[in-house]
Amino acid sequence: MTESPQDCAKCEISLTVNGKLHNVHAHPMERLLDVLRHDIDLTGTKEGCGEGECGSCSVLIDGVLVNSCLIPVLQADGAKIITIEGLASEGRLQVLQQAFLDCGGAQCGICTPGMILAAHHLLSKKPQPTLEEIREGLSGNLCRCTGYMQIFEAVAEAARQGGAT
Ligand code: FES
Ligand code: FES
Repeated sequence: MTESPQDCAKCEISLTVNGKLHNVHAHPMERLLDVLRHDIDLTGTKEGCGEGECGSCSVLIDGVLVNSCLIPVLQADGAKIITIEGLASEGRLQVLQQAFLDCGGAQCGICTPGMILAAHHLLSKKPQPTLEEIREGLSGNLCRCTGYMQIFEAVAEAARQGGAT
């Protein structure tokens, strides 16, 4: 099949997402957020502001917490990416996810995947954070529903249970 000029501008990009290799055909400047949601069908990662301000689109790239709405997919070529779907195990909620449910840390849910990724990142580096460290660790993630205290309590509860995931 003849490729259109638009197709020609695409390139093959390899992403290992939640342990599974995906080769996608995408424009280099396409947002990683869109490739995850539309090409790989992982819709757990949410778009809030689309401008790098809210953290709803947070994912881990090679262990670094990033806003996927700001990452051109080419920048992630060859990287290992963890999305919210990668934190559930065999369909079971893990400690952190259950703590968000139990403590009322998830309401409308738009911020929740990003919050949980940020909390996972924090707890994997600092298993017993202080409240101040929890606030700091989640400072890049905005929530307009909860007032934050339930979220901080959820992270503290997960820490008490020893669960970064
Ligand atoms: S949607 Fe990416 S930071 Fe808000
Ligand atoms: S639960 Fe609605 S934005 Fe956080």
